Amino acid sequence: MFAQTPVGIEAIVAHVPKHFVDLTTLAAANDVDPAKYYQGLGGRRMAMAAPYEDPVTMAYEAAQALLERYDVDPASIGMLVVGTESGVDGAKPIASYLHGLLGLSSDCRTFDAKHACYSGTAALRLSADWCAMRAAESGRKALVVATDIARYGVGSSGEPTQGAGAVAMLMGDRPGCFGLDPHPEAVYTEQVMDFWRPHYRSIAVVDGQTSIRSYLRALQHTWDEYKRRSGLGWDDYDYLLFHVPFPKMAFKAFRLLHEREARNGGVGKDTLEEAFERRTQPALWANMELGNIYSGSLYLSLAGLLERGDERVAGARVGLFSYGSGCCAEFFSGRIGPDPDAWRDRIGIVPGLMRRHELSYERYLHFRHTFEELACEGSCVDTFHGADSGQRISFCGIRDHQRIYSRPRPYLVSYSPSAQALK
Ligand code: HMG
Repeated sequence: MFAQTPVGIEAIVAHVPKHFVDLTTLAAANDVDPAKYYQGLGGRRMAMAAPYEDPVTMAYEAAQALLERYDVDPASIGMLVVGTESGVDGAKPIASYLHGLLGLSSDCRTFDAKHACYSGTAALRLSADWCAMRAAESGRKALVVATDIARYGVGSSGEPTQGAGAVAMLMGDRPGCFGLDPHPEAVYTEQVMDFWRPHYRSIAVVDGQTSIRSYLRALQHTWDEYKRRSGLGWDDYDYLLFHVPFPKMAFKAFRLLHEREARNGGVGKDTLEEAFERRTQPALWANMELGNIYSGSLYLSLAGLLERGDERVAGARVGLFSYGSGCCAEFFSGRIGPDPDAWRDRIGIVPGLMRRHELSYERYLHFRHTFEELACEGSCVDTFHGADSGQRISFCGIRDHQRIYSRPRPYLVSYSPSAQALK
């Protein structure tokens, strides 16, 4: 038996894009009963990336905020892994853009992980293993960023489940936010065509009902296997979090587990609704505001639970289910840190929501159209956008087949030579 180094999340930040569409606006445009989106899917609003935002800029906003708010030395990052399914290039990873923008050391391994929404978990689990082997002796940390934009066709059934956002997590051997339990993993893989995005398309192809069945099948397998391997059962979890393509999916997932465990007489006196209200609902408020952020959805729930959870949260055990279409899934668990000061006022979801602007349906269509235009060679507009909403980096389009990013022009300051220069 190996000695286990405790590893997990030392710091966590979520980036909220500056625009959103209310699902009632979308329902009116699609001539759909708004109750279908609100009650049937459980959503409220979906975050919209502006044309000058992309998965790189969102990852930067989350990661830079993490370095600042938790006072992390960039030189301490020995591995940077981006989990994403919104890759902006067939070869060059988002992680390499991010590495440059953050000014990390060249002595840092960088790459993207890809397997649809599972990619965030792939990045996190790999980083955790790396930290378990290396962090104690080297003192170095791994930075994991899950960043995605979920886009479906206009008027399609997937459209109300769109969203955008990024979650950055610092992994290390002092997991004040969330320590991973050291139990054997429970994963499930099956080749299934439920959701995919061929290189020639900017939006995904999806078979919605197949994807829901596949998600639930994977949950059933990983739950049973994790229970067998870890010895943890229903009563051991204070919270159960799930990948959230739309909030009602978390309810379907919870219901599946509750019904299975109830058959064995293991769920106590709580009704399904009471148990869901206590164990999963407190984590869903941010997902209801941002929509599906794919690789980061599960971690947005965790961030939401930390940011707004009540006093029960500190020290609580959480079971997490991650699902990525295609498919790969995993059930694992951990404990929230004992001291809320480790994350208090630093996650950033509520302040992000307070800065948002609502889009009309016409403006939403305009954003989509401009996004397509900027994705073409020669589109670079040479202008920094988004400064009015506090954006620190802006995607300006493509020139010479290169994606161009710019920062706001600094205010002119009078030149004053440093003491070093005067020597
Ligand atoms: P749909 O065909 O529009 O919806 O697609 P529906 O007809 O199945 O209705 C949805 C729910 O609304 C149903 O409730 C209806 O009864 C209810 P349920 O039976 O499921 O409990 N409803 C109403 N409720 C109240 N008032 C009304 C009303 N009308 C109907 N008037 C679907 C829904 C989710 C399939 C679609 O949005 C979709 O394809 N979304 C994208 C795929 C997806 O999210 N799949 C989830 C699992 S796969 C996954 O999570 C992976 C993913 O994140 C990608 C990745 O891994 O990279 C997607």
